[in-house]
Amino acid sequence: MAKRALITGITGQDGAYLAEFLLGRGYEVHGMVRRASTESFERIAGFRDRLTLHQADLLDQLSIITLLKEVEPDEIYNLAAQSFVPTSWLQPLLTSEFTALGVTRMLEAVRLVNPAIRFYQASSSEMFGAVDQEPQNETTPFYPRSPYGVAKVYGHWITVNYRESYGIFACSGILFNHESPLRGKEFVTRKVSDAAARIKLGVQNKLRLGNLDAARDWGFAGDYVKAMWLMLQQDRPSDYVIATGRKHTVRELVEAAFGYVGLDWQKYVEIDPALIRPAEVNKLRGDAARARRELGWEPVVSFDELVRMMVEADLARVKREVEQA
Ligand code: NAP
Ligand code: GDD
Repeated sequence: MAKRALITGITGQDGAYLAEFLLGRGYEVHGMVRRASTESFERIAGFRDRLTLHQADLLDQLSIITLLKEVEPDEIYNLAAQSFVPTSWLQPLLTSEFTALGVTRMLEAVRLVNPAIRFYQASSSEMFGAVDQEPQNETTPFYPRSPYGVAKVYGHWITVNYRESYGIFACSGILFNHESPLRGKEFVTRKVSDAAARIKLGVQNKLRLGNLDAARDWGFAGDYVKAMWLMLQQDRPSDYVIATGRKHTVRELVEAAFGYVGLDWQKYVEIDPALIRPAEVNKLRGDAARARRELGWEPVVSFDELVRMMVEADLARVKREVEQA
C-alpha cells in the first residue's frame, strides 16, 4: 500500500518541491492549508489534482488533531511557519505562535492520535545566528539573532524533547538557505533574480538592497527536500545539518545574477537603510558531513547553476508578462 504523507506549508516553496518529490515516490500526499479569501496554490498548480488538501491552522490545536485522525499519515513534514526574518521583528508574537508553539501543537497531535507517525521539523541555520564557529554542524551552539531564529530554536528543542520524552520518531532538519524559481520574492535571491530580469527587459530601473556583506550558504530547494525524506527513512531518528559547505556574499550574488544578463550591477543597486536588520546574521556556512555519511545525501546544484536557473526562470516569466500587457 502507498505510504501516506501529510505536509504542512504545502503551498510554500519547500512544500511544493516536497509534494512533487513524494508523488514521484508513489506516496499519497495530503496537504494542510489555512483558509484565505484568495487561494495561494500557484506553486502546486501543476499537480494539484494529485493532492488532497485539508483546511487546518497551526494556531488551532483541535483542527490539527482532527486532521491527523482523518488523514492517518505515516509521515508528517512540518514545513508551515512564518518564515521571513524581517517580519519576525514586526510580528514577534505571531511568529512565535506559528513557528515555535505551532510545532508543539503538531507534536501534541502526533502524541495523542498516533505516536508511531514519523515527524520532520523544518529547523533552520538561523538558529546559529551570531555563532563564531565555522562551518556549523549539529553540535554547534545556537545564538539566534531574530525573533524568527529564537522561535526556530524552540521548535528544534521541542522536537528533540518529544523524541526523548515519548519515543516519537521525530527529526529536526537544520537546513541552510535554499532557493529556487519558486522562492518568495521578498527573499534576497529571488528579489535579485527578479530585478536582474526586469531591469534587463526594461521594466525596472533600480534595485534597493540592505546589507551586501552578509554571506549565506545557498543551495537548491529541490536538492534539500530529498534530505527531509531521507531523514524519515532511517532506522533511528536524529537531527541533521543540510548545506552545501560554501558561502557567498549578497554582493557576489548580485554580481552573478546581473553578470548573467550582461549588466553592471553597480549602475542599478542602491542601499536602502530601511532594509538593514536590527540584528544581522553576518555569515552562515554549514557542514553536512553527517548527512553525507548517514543519509548518503549530497547537494547537486551549485551556486552558479542556482543563480542561472533563477534568472532564466524570471526572464521567461517577465517576458511573458510584458508580451501579455
Ligand atoms: P514559505 O515559502 O514561506 O512557506 C511557508 C508555508 O507555511 C506556506 O505554505 C504558508 O501558507 C504556511 N503557513 C504559514 N503560517 C501558517 C499557519 N498558521 N497555518 C498553516 N500554514 C501556515 O517557506 P519555505 O521557504 O518553503 O520554508 C519551509 C519551512 O522551512 C519553513 O518552516 C521555514 O521556516 C523553514 N526553513 C526554510 C529555509 C529556506 O531557506 N527556505 C531554510 C531553513 C528552514 P500560506 O501559503 O497560506 O502563506
Ligand atoms: N530579504 C532581503 N532583502 N535580504 C537582504 C536584502 C534585501 O533587500 N539585502 C540584503 N539582504 C541580506 C539579509 O540582511 C540577510 O543577511 C541575507 O540577505 C539573506 O536574507 P533572506 O534571503 O531574507 O534570508 P534569511 O537568511 O534571512 O532567511 C532565510 O534563510 C533561513 C535559513 O538560514 C529564510 O528562508 C528563513 O526562513 C530560513 O530559516
